[in-house]
Amino acid sequence: MSNPAVCEELTAKSYEELTANFDWSIAERQLGYQPGEAINIGWMCSDRICHLGMADKVALYWEDFQGNHQQFRFDDLRVLSNTVAQFVCDLGIQPGERVCLFMDRVPELYLGFLGILKTGAVAQPLFSAFGDESLLVRLQNANTSAIVTQKKHLHKVRKIREQLPNLRHIIVVDAGDSALQAREVSFDMKRTPRVEDFAVYPTMAESASVLHYTSGTTGQPKGAQHVHYSIISQYLTAKWVLDLQPDDIYWCNADPGWVTGTSYGIIGPWSNGTTQVVLDSGFNAERWYEFMERHRVTVWYSAPTAIRLLMKEGTEVVRRHDLSNLRYLASVGEPLNAEAVIWSQEAFGKMFHDTFWQTETGCIVITNFPGMPIKPGSMGRPFPGITAAVLNTKTYEPITEPGIAGLIALRPGWPSQVRGYWDNEAGFKAKFKNGWYLCGDRASIDGDGYYWFMGRDDDVINTGGHLVGPFEIESALLEHPAVYESAAVAKPDPVNMEVVKAFVTLKRGYEPSDDLELEIMNHIRKRLSPLAMPQAIEFVDSLPKTRSGKIVRRVLRCKEFNEPVGDLSTIMDD
Ligand code: WT7
Repeated sequence: MSNPAVCEELTAKSYEELTANFDWSIAERQLGYQPGEAINIGWMCSDRICHLGMADKVALYWEDFQGNHQQFRFDDLRVLSNTVAQFVCDLGIQPGERVCLFMDRVPELYLGFLGILKTGAVAQPLFSAFGDESLLVRLQNANTSAIVTQKKHLHKVRKIREQLPNLRHIIVVDAGDSALQAREVSFDMKRTPRVEDFAVYPTMAESASVLHYTSGTTGQPKGAQHVHYSIISQYLTAKWVLDLQPDDIYWCNADPGWVTGTSYGIIGPWSNGTTQVVLDSGFNAERWYEFMERHRVTVWYSAPTAIRLLMKEGTEVVRRHDLSNLRYLASVGEPLNAEAVIWSQEAFGKMFHDTFWQTETGCIVITNFPGMPIKPGSMGRPFPGITAAVLNTKTYEPITEPGIAGLIALRPGWPSQVRGYWDNEAGFKAKFKNGWYLCGDRASIDGDGYYWFMGRDDDVINTGGHLVGPFEIESALLEHPAVYESAAVAKPDPVNMEVVKAFVTLKRGYEPSDDLELEIMNHIRKRLSPLAMPQAIEFVDSLPKTRSGKIVRRVLRCKEFNEPVGDLSTIMDD
């Protein structure tokens, strides 16, 4: 086996030594990649694992809430992703074109992802709970050529397709006998003849691979463009940080509509030849524990909101299950509070390892490693090969004294770093200052080099580990006939950390009422997504504004968090 007992590399050497001598070529060698050769994520995660003698090893145990289940070996991944790839090619999709995956966590999503990459096309995963407006802006921006979806989501695509003249194909994976309309085509993975051999497109290191949309403060969401070389970072961080070993059964809760679900729900584990389990269902403590017990899950990558929800259910339900196989726990997406880490020690006999990263970083960049002492509440230290710092907010120079807050920044150049925002060069350029990439977050570093997260440095709302942009919500609010002006801000929440709150002024002739509040909430839920739906709407007479008329969300946010607003004089002059 080409994967030496995992983390041998990490535990054999001290963190300092490893960091000092680190070179990403470690991962290149382990993946059998030579610079200048073709590299394709779809092939690396399936064909290559089969060549290593693991063709019959289980790659995926899949299950949904009703208990339907399917199992796929690495050879099935290889052949079925070939089958998808051939289908996509036969439709005339060319390398570099964007193909959107808009599905629940069904097997076709995972196999479709690998298959699209094998053709050289760009995979554009979008969260299946998105409403038609969220879908439209992302498909328009990417000028997407095809979308793969399920019958249950087809109505959203049908609603917007007239506005998407370049969307040539709508591929339905479970059409059955239903009548399809123009541009729609059925792809039934079980009935399509299996394609043993497919000539994988020879993508190069810098060829576009995955396009993930993420929200910023201003403007519509940005398409973070990744390349095939990103697998170098995703493979090694999955191995070292998530401690993946040959016999592991790995569970990542994340949906591939978001970056965690692709970097560590597809590419990281499968490039390591790791068996993973997927549960296509929402949160349910009893069901989750039962699922982990039955599949003997050993490594679990989860998120603070899920952990807080489990905490609410208590340890009694944990005790009813045999979770003795659980060996390693990690978390991502939002601040992992110290209480949650301490609770996990009590509930599972192990602490969650916090990991920090973003859509743009493509891989874990600051983290607690296996074997490293955990300081509950801290995100840990930079991954070897990542140069991180916190910068002074005015000079953009690294802060050297411990305990002083600054902007989390990374030196550009690691393999899975975002290569650009699709059709938004200015937005991408704005992320760099003084030779550093700015994450948009604030933190401090203690005397031992551990990072302590403090908060976002912008107006983006992080609800349950999902970023939502205030601009998107405000634009959708303005579509409602009663809304004159609006501001969307974060409001603290004990489980989701933050939820959306909207402040709204009404047009003449409309009066605030509970019915109107509900109607507006529903409008956002349907147009955008349940995540973006305001949990509260406050009708106000006016909104705080700068002298030039720009709405100042910060004033509203500070009130919600009971924080001092601070000096607004410069902002108000904007
Ligand atoms: C933002 C990135 C990459 C995983 C999924 C989210 C916040 C992420 C942590 C953490 C505190 C965190 C940051 C970051 N975040 N991990 N361990 N502690 N905050 O990807 O949607 O691009 O969001 O999530 O604010 O910038 P994303």
